[in-house]
Amino acid sequence: MKRHPLERIVRPQVLDACCGGKMMWFDQADPRAVFIDIRRETHVTDSRPGRKELVVDPDHVASFTDMPFDDGQFSLVVFDPPHIIRNEARGWITKKYGVLNGDWKAMLRDGFKECFRVLRDGGVLIFKWSDSNVPVSEILALTPEKPLFGHKSGKKMGTHWIAFMRSNKVVATEGRNPALVCSRGVVGNRKASVNIVDDRGIESLKILPLD
Ligand SMILES: C[S@@+](CC[C@H](N)C(=O)[O-])C[C@H]1O[C@@H](n2cnc3c(N)ncnc32)[C@H](O)[C@@H]1O
Repeated sequence: MKRHPLERIVRPQVLDACCGGKMMWFDQADPRAVFIDIRRETHVTDSRPGRKELVVDPDHVASFTDMPFDDGQFSLVVFDPPHIIRNEARGWITKKYGVLNGDWKAMLRDGFKECFRVLRDGGVLIFKWSDSNVPVSEILALTPEKPLFGHKSGKKMGTHWIAFMRSNKVVATEGRNPALVCSRGVVGNRKASVNIVDDRGIESLKILPLD
């Protein structure tokens, strides 16, 4: 794919972590974005009405579980992984969207982790999920990060668009004295290790629930 000449001097700020046919994009060669997918392939259209050729042509063939990018490189990541559980992609829909098989929960968990790794502090993750096979609540449980808000779309309102913001800061209040803003490192499902600095400047490490 021909890239915009500006891309050589301006590092893209947006990552599409599994771009497929880029159907959601207004400009499929938007120079502000970099596109990855696990495959590069073309499926020739069949003759039925409304079915076009599907071209999956990412900038890089790479997995969202192990992305070839630096920590904190992007301001915005969009993550629209496959949502249909099948052994293989046979029909048009699964060719278009891909399939979930094997240990797909571990794959999505690693995908979320990578999305947050490559986001800068304050960067936004837009997560898209269709709950035709698996309810979105089961998928949100795969990341310790807390979503901000979401929206449902589609004829059956089964497609969720959910926004997260990467933040290394939590404000914790412990005991009588409000603690200062501390750095956060996630240590487990919905728990954070928090470096508390009290009003006398004494530091202590605590494990706090994120909710
Ligand atoms: C739901 S589709 C994305 C559709 C896309 N957002 C669009 O607008 O057309 C999911 C895509 O994830 C890709 N995919 C599946 N596993 C992946 C992985 N581990 N890393 C990167 N991409 C993956 C599939 O090849 C498929 O193209």
